[in-house]
Amino acid sequence: MRIGTPLSPSALRVMLLGAGELGKEVLIALQRLGVETIAVDRYADAPGQQVAHRAHVIDMSDAAALRALIVAERPHFVVPEIEAIATEELVKIEAEGLATVIPTARAAQLTMNREGIRRLAAETLGLPTSPYRFASSLDEMRAACAEIGFPCFVKPVMSSSGKGQSRLTSAADVDAAWAYAAAGSRVDQGRVIVEGQIDFDYEITQLTVRALAADGTVDTAFCAPIGHVQVKGDYVESWQPQAMSAAALQKSREIAKAVTDNLGGRGIFGVELFVKGDEVWFSEVSPRPHDTGLVTLASQYQSEFELHARAILGLPVDAGLREPGASAVIYGGMEASGIAFDGVADALAVPRSDLRLFGKPQAFERRRMGVALAAGSDTDEARVRAKLAAAAVKPCQP
Ligand SMILES: Nc1ncnc2c1ncn2[C@@H]1O[C@H](COP(=O)(O)OP(=O)(O)OP(=O)(O)O)[C@@H](O)[C@H]1O
Ligand SMILES: [Mg+2]
Repeated sequence: MRIGTPLSPSALRVMLLGAGELGKEVLIALQRLGVETIAVDRYADAPGQQVAHRAHVIDMSDAAALRALIVAERPHFVVPEIEAIATEELVKIEAEGLATVIPTARAAQLTMNREGIRRLAAETLGLPTSPYRFASSLDEMRAACAEIGFPCFVKPVMSSSGKGQSRLTSAADVDAAWAYAAAGSRVDQGRVIVEGQIDFDYEITQLTVRALAADGTVDTAFCAPIGHVQVKGDYVESWQPQAMSAAALQKSREIAKAVTDNLGGRGIFGVELFVKGDEVWFSEVSPRPHDTGLVTLASQYQSEFELHARAILGLPVDAGLREPGASAVIYGGMEASGIAFDGVADALAVPRSDLRLFGKPQAFERRRMGVALAAGSDTDEARVRAKLAAAAVKPCQP
C-alpha cells in the first residue's frame, strides 16, 4: 500500500466513521503523512470534519447509508471512531474486500456491545473481570442484582461514556436504575449488564498498538500505563505514567495482549483495567484511540493518534514515553452554540502547557469542549499544570 498524492488518482484514502476530538487528531496525523481523508459524523462541522478533505453527514447506524457512502468514496481504510455504527454491514464490506476495516470489523462489532466483549474476555479468554450477569427485564435485573450483591453497577449493553449507567447500593435502587438504563441505551433497549463493584486502588488505560514489523508480521507494543479519574462514567483527568508494581504492570500487559491478539488487525487499542495491589481486572477495551490517551499528545514521542495513523498505514511505530504528562478536561459549562473561550492566554502561560479546543459547534453543560495538556518533571507537577491551564479557560456566551 503506497501513499500517493491527496485528491489525485494515486491518493491513499482513509475514512473516519466518527469525527470527534479523537478522530480530529487521527485525521491530522494522517494528513501529515499525505493521506486523503474523509470525515463522517452524524452532525455537520464535527471537529474532525473541520480538518478533513471531505465531510459527510449520515446516520452511521443505517447500514444502507453507510454502504452507499463507502461505495461512493472507495476508501482504502475505514476507521471507526465511535461505537454506534452498523457494524454488521462493516463485516460484509470487509468480507467483500471493499475496504479494510481498522482494526477489524469483528473487533468493532464485538466491542460495541458490552455482552460481546465481556463474554469474550471472561468466558473465552478466561481473564479476570468483575462478577457479572445480564438481564433483559426488570425482574431479571432484580434477580441479577441479588445474586451479584451490592454495591453493583448497571449499564446498558449498548452505551458508552457513562450513559444510562448507575451505581446501586441496595435493592431500593433497582427500579430507578432500570428506567435510567432504558433511557440511556443506544439501540437494543432493555438489556443490561449488572457488574459487581471492584474495590480497586486505581484504574488505568493500557494503550496497546498492533503494527507491522519489518518482516511483515504484526507486533504488539505497549505505551506506559495511563492513570485517570472518572466522574459519572466520564474521564476528567489523566496522567502518564501511572506508578504501578512490576507484577501489576506485567499482568496488565498479559491481559491487554490476550484481548488485542484475539481482536486482531492493526491499530491502537485502549484496554481499561482495574488494579488493586498486584491484582488486575479487565474492564473493557476500545479498538481505537482512548479519550484518557489525549495525555499522550504531551507525553509520548508519538501520540496515540500518530501511533494509530502509522499502524493503519502499515508503518513502524515507537510507543515510547518522552516525559511525564497530564491532561485535564474543559467542559462547556452551558447550553449554547458557537461559544467563545476567554482565558486562553492565561492557560498557555502555565509552563509546559498546551491546549486543544475541539471546535464543537454546540456546547452542553457536561460536554467536553477542550482539553489542557502539560508536561512536568513528574506526574504530580504535570497534573497541577494541566488542571491550572484547564481552569484558566472560561467558556462564555459568544
Ligand atoms: N465493576 C466496576 N467496579 C468498579 N468501578 C466500576 C465498575 N464498572 C465501572 N466502574 C467505574 O465507572 C467507570 C465507567 O465504566 P465503564 O468504563 O464501563 O463505562 P463506559 O460508559 O464505557 O465509559 P467510557 O466510555 O467513558 O469508558 C469506570 O472507569 C470505573 O471508574
Ligand atoms: Mg470505560
